Parts: sequence; C-alpha cells; structure tokens
Amino acid sequence: MLPKISLTSRSQELENLVLLVSSLKALPDGVFTASERSYISKQHKELKKDIIAYNRLEHWIYVYVIRDEKSVHKRLEACRKAGDKVGGMLNSQNAEKVVIFDNEDLPAEVLAFAEGMALGNYQFLKYKSDQEKKNTLRKIEIYSEGLNSSEPGDEKNIPAVVPSLHYDLINIVNDAVFKCRDLINEPASYLTATVFSKEMEKLGKDCGARVDVMNKKKLEALRMGGLLGVNKGSHEPPTFTVMEWKPADAVNKKPIVFVGKGIVFDSGGMNLKPGESMQNMKDDMSGAAAAALAVYAIARAKLPVYVVALMPATDNRPGAKAIVPGDILTMHNGTTVEVLNTDAEGRLILADALSYARRYKPELVIDLATLTGAAVRAIGKIACAGMQVKASEEFLELTESGFTTNERIVELPMWDEYADLIKSELADLKNIGPGDAGTITAGKFLEKFTDYPYIHLDIAGPAFIDKADSYRGTGGTGFGVRMLFDFIVKRIK
Ligand code: BES
Ligand code: MN
Ligand code: ZN
Repeated sequence: MLPKISLTSRSQELENLVLLVSSLKALPDGVFTASERSYISKQHKELKKDIIAYNRLEHWIYVYVIRDEKSVHKRLEACRKAGDKVGGMLNSQNAEKVVIFDNEDLPAEVLAFAEGMALGNYQFLKYKSDQEKKNTLRKIEIYSEGLNSSEPGDEKNIPAVVPSLHYDLINIVNDAVFKCRDLINEPASYLTATVFSKEMEKLGKDCGARVDVMNKKKLEALRMGGLLGVNKGSHEPPTFTVMEWKPADAVNKKPIVFVGKGIVFDSGGMNLKPGESMQNMKDDMSGAAAAALAVYAIARAKLPVYVVALMPATDNRPGAKAIVPGDILTMHNGTTVEVLNTDAEGRLILADALSYARRYKPELVIDLATLTGAAVRAIGKIACAGMQVKASEEFLELTESGFTTNERIVELPMWDEYADLIKSELADLKNIGPGDAGTITAGKFLEKFTDYPYIHLDIAGPAFIDKADSYRGTGGTGFGVRMLFDFIVKRIK
C-alpha cells in the first residue's frame, strides 16, 4: 500500500520520529537527553552509522545524518535510500505512521527522504495467500519550517532545485509508480493485450485522460503490419491504446508523445528464447506501462501540458501461424521489413506506433522500450540507453531529469554508418544487424519511422530487477515515470 505523505504542524513527542540533520551539531535542543546525545554521537562517529535508531517506550527515534555529497543529485539519492531503509525498520516494528522532522530548512532532502520511504513500501502481494508480511506503514508526515509556513500549492512548497518535489506531486507520482509496477509484475496469464487496454481505460477514467483502444480490425484497416505480424503467432488479438491529456490551458499546441513497447510476453516467437532468458519476459511491456502512467500522473496533477501516450500491445509467441525468419512485413508507413529474427519484435510494433505518431505533428516523441539485451550488457540495470534525432536540447533536459530522479540516461550515438548495418537485400530494411552495436542498430531502425524531434530510451536494464534494490523494490521498477514527470513539470516554466 502507498503511504501518503502530508505536512504536519505538530511535532509530537509520542510518535515514531525521524530527525534529518546535516551534522550532529544540528541536533535540535530539547528533544534529546544527554545520554541519548552521547549514544547518537558514538554510533555516528565511532561506528560510522548515518542512520541511528533507538526506542523510547512505545515508539522509535531515528536520526539520519545526511551524507555530505558534493552534488545535489547524489545527496537527494542518498536521502531516498535512507528513507527506504528507515521505512523497512518501521515496517519491522509494525509501525503505521512516522513524522519526519526537519530542523534546518532542508525541504528537498526531507521530501526525497519521504519519497524513498514511500516508494520502498511497495509490495506485489496479489498472488500471495499469506498476507502476513504486508507492510504496515501508511502515513508519512513531514514537519519542516519552510514547507509548513506556506499553504499547499504555494511556490514555497516547491524546493527550487527540484520543482517536481512537492509533496502533493510526490503522492501522485508515487501512486503512478506503484500502478506501473503492478502492471509490470502481472503475469501474462492475466495481462493479455486486451486486459492491458482495459486497464488503460480504467486509468483514463481515474485521471481524466481520454483513452481510445484500437482493435485488430482497426489495426488491419490502418495496415499496421508490424504489430499484426508479431501478433500472428498468438492466440490473443493485439490492441493499440491511445491515451491523451489535452488540457485547455496547455502551454504547447503540438503534443509531446510518449510511445511505449507493449509486448505483454516475449517468448522470442519462432526464434524461441533459450533457457532462463525467457524468465522475466512478462516485463516486456514496461515501456508501455511507463508511458501510460506518466500521462496518468500528469493528468492527475492537472499539469498544463498536452501529452499523448501510444501503446501497441501483443504477446510474441511461436503459434502455428507465427511469422518465421525470412518473412517480409509491410509496415504502417509502407516500409518493407525482412524479419530475420522474430525475437527482434519490439522494433516491429514500435515502427507502426512511431509512424502513427506523425499524425499528431508532435513537438517531440519519446519512446520507452525494453528493446535490447545489448543495452543491459553495456550499461547494466542502473540506467537506460538513450539516443536522439533532431532533439539535442530536449535530450539534455531529459538527461537532467534523469539525474534529478535518479532514472539516468546514457547517450549512445545515432551516426549514419550504423544504418548501413540494417539494409536488407530483399526489402527496405532488415530487423537485425550483424550483432555488434545491437542497441544502436535497433535505434537506427526506429529512426526510419520518424520525421519529428525524437528520443529513444532503451530501458531493458532498469525496467525490472530480480533482487531488491532499495526503494526500487523487486520486479518491475516503474522506471521512466518519475523522469518523464519531472521533464514535463520543468517544461511548464
Ligand atoms: N525484450 C527483448 C530485450 C530484452 C532482453 C529485454 C533482456 C530485457 C532483458 C527483445 O525483444 C529481444 O529479444 N531483443 C533481442 C534482439 C536481437 C534478436 C537482435 C536481444 O536483445 O537479444
Ligand atoms: Mn524479443
Ligand atoms: Zn521483446
């Protein structure tokens, strides 16, 4: 369950309390006894602990000495991780509520701490009969001079360094991240393309965004040969969901379009994935989920920005009618593609969505896709790979949002030479390169279907983690939602 963050004007003695301090000198007077002070100082100085915990009768006191990182980004990330840790301790005490106390006017640090604590509370227990291990934390209250002296919605509530760090906005985004993780963690037995689109309709109702679902017939009429081609081996029909937030007061006339890869399960198709490489492939719709939940959060926050999410969805299976290597598909924009490996399916469904995006005359298109294993090998699970065409400035802004939210982007080049690697003898393009530079050749393939400022994010690494990693949890991480939201917030100015 998502703990709600709110402000409190009281700093009760009889609560679970976290004190955030920049150094031990800043420990507030009148809160600690002399023996508590010496305990805290010993734990910090001798045992090098930055989180010091002890209990007072029924409740717990935690002191977090903020790590003195040189960069704001690193410092806020350390706060998020500390928040997650303390959240874990509170849950092990079956605590439902905590007050985070800021004595030094460090609103960004306190909010980041609360954010990490809330995000780390995520669990996916839908299929567990034993609900015993359910986290108890429900309420995170903040007492911070700077934040409390202003009304909600007031500029003062928004630390200058991170405009998206407003506690109301954090609650909205955290909820979106939880919903994104839920969708990713749902197995393919539940989350078919049709169910995915139904979930999108529910989200649309919830947030006031318009949702349209195109069914197989419509996709045939639109000649979406990539999406239909990948779908041929499946017993389930494909869907293509459009989610649109177009407020009257939008700062942009032409929309920013998010495109998300929605492969609800990737078996590889006829080029069946071997062994364990298929294990986590329910996560192959993480891009679509992130695109949708970013729009959801933007709509819930009523941000004055016109945004659209496009989500082509199907599973990739080796049914009797499945496409086979050598098949040639005609995509939505008429380009022909020789499919030499049915496991390079993401680019086939994205190609249709990217060429469909042209009808919006978009200001910018950002796609998110768990596209290549090569991206995971190059960068690992802590960041995504990014490429851009005609969008160098926007790419820098997005990269900055990546640092702000710690959903980081590493840029790869889009040099022309790489396009030579996906030329086909028989068709306009082939869907795989020679093996080298697999992430870039995938990006070059996608570029062929665009004519607008374009950013491609390959999130194959960070979208899903097997092992718990602080507030990112286990399983689907929701990577992309916080980054995109921050990017859109900053565009309002
Ligand atoms: N969904 C996979 C990529 C992936 C791999 C995501 C690992 C997450 C973790 C994608 O559809 C795929 O199978 N890509 C192939 C492309 C290859 C056949 C050119 C790959 O990376 O092996
Ligand atoms: Mn694949
Ligand atoms: Zn895939």
